[in-house]
Order: sequence, then C-alpha cells, then structure tokens
Amino acid sequence: MNVLGIDIGGTGIKGAPVNTVDGVLLAERLRIPTPNPATPEAVAEVVKEIVHHFEWTGHVGCTIPARVEHGLVRTAANIHKGWIDTQVDSLFSGVTGCRVTVLNDADAAGIASMRFGAGRSLDGLVFFITVGTGIGSAMFYNQQLIPNTELGHLRLKGMAAEEYASNRVREQEGLTWKKWARRFQKYLDRIEFLFAPDTIIIGGGISRPAKVAEYWSYLSTRAELRPAELENEAGIIGAAAAAI
Ligand code: BGC
Repeated sequence: MNVLGIDIGGTGIKGAPVNTVDGVLLAERLRIPTPNPATPEAVAEVVKEIVHHFEWTGHVGCTIPARVEHGLVRTAANIHKGWIDTQVDSLFSGVTGCRVTVLNDADAAGIASMRFGAGRSLDGLVFFITVGTGIGSAMFYNQQLIPNTELGHLRLKGMAAEEYASNRVREQEGLTWKKWARRFQKYLDRIEFLFAPDTIIIGGGISRPAKVAEYWSYLSTRAELRPAELENEAGIIGAAAAAI
C-alpha cells in the first residue's frame, strides 16, 4: 500500500509517497522550510502544500518531534509551545481532507529502521536513538514498538541529556567529535544501566557514514551498537509505514 509520509523537523518539513511494503520512496521528496514561528496552523499549511504537490488523496503518515498520544500532542521541548494539547491528526485531516496518522519522530524513524534498515529482523530489546536538534528515542521489544519514550530528557549533569549531548549542542559549543563523543558515551552508559538493551541503533544526521567515521571509535557499549542506514529518509518512511 502507498502512503504519503511527511516528516516535520525543526528546519524542514519533508514529504514523499512511500511503498510501505519495501520502504521505497515513489517520487523525489519535497522539502519546504519549517515556518517561523512553527505554530500548528502554519505547519498545517505546509502539510497541505505537500499533500497538494503530490495530488494525494490517500492515507498520510506524519511525524512530529513531540510525545503524541492517540493524535494528541503532549509535549513541546523543541517545537512551538502552541502544539501542546493540539489534536494534530484532526488538524491535519481537516486541512488536507486526507486520513492522517501522526506519531513521534523518533518512533517513526525507529519503525523505518526496524523494518527496512539496521534493525531489520532484530529481536530482543532494541533502542533507536536519534541525535539532532534534540535527542529522540524509540524502544522495541521483539520488533514491537513501546511508543513515546522520551529518553532525550534523561537527566545528565543536572540537565536534560539533549541539552548536554545533542548534535545541536556539539555545534553550538564547538565541541570536537572526541569531546562530544565523551558526552554521548555518558548518555549511552545511562541507557545501558537503566535498560540493558541488546542493541542500540544511532540515527539522525550523525548516522551518515562520513560523520560516523568521526566518532564511532570513541564509543563503547555492552550492547551491539549500529549506525542507522536510512539517514534523512527514515522519518518519511517510518511515518508512512506506521500509518497502516
Ligand atoms: C522531543 C522528542 C523528540 C526528540 C527528537 C525531543 O526534544 O521531546 O519528542 O523525539 O526531541 O526530535
């Protein structure tokens, strides 16, 4: 079945139709800069634009960087506070006329990874950790998602882990890869201490091979550590796959 996947991020909103059987994009993806301020109404207009661009009338799957409980947004750490308590599935269905399913961005990217990427056919306890502006997490047991874990907000050094070890912090503080990796290692240690996963998959922009080469050798975990494979398209693919 084909579903239009849309990935809402802090800087860009990206969409493409996806074949949910094999996770392949059916057309070149469209990227539109995230409006500023990124209020629910402004973002809904962009979602509508993407739907119109692909002349889509079918099912739509959409990510958002927040906790989403049955279509209701509950948190807004890195997005406009106006999202809190927005029934986002109804909002997007209303403007597009399509059936829209919305889920957390890390959960979506994790789903893509488990079905079509580095987590393919992995059993046991798998953590997918996506590192970008924030840190997002998705937890799977025998391929089954346990939704809405917010492990970027674990406390480290008196602050949320994403304030200490995200890629945004690395860039803002001008950390070398080695220095950043030391911080990220502390985060991985905490995850391992609390949950003892079998496998940890690292996603987000830092999972590109050229970036992985910069820091991978500084990390060490008891769990098997793998870079994600789908990079920038994981959110789109996972949103589409989750929608059916
Ligand atoms: C949000 C999560 C999101 C993560 C990655 C965090 O700030 O709380 O819901 O998955 O950023 O975007």
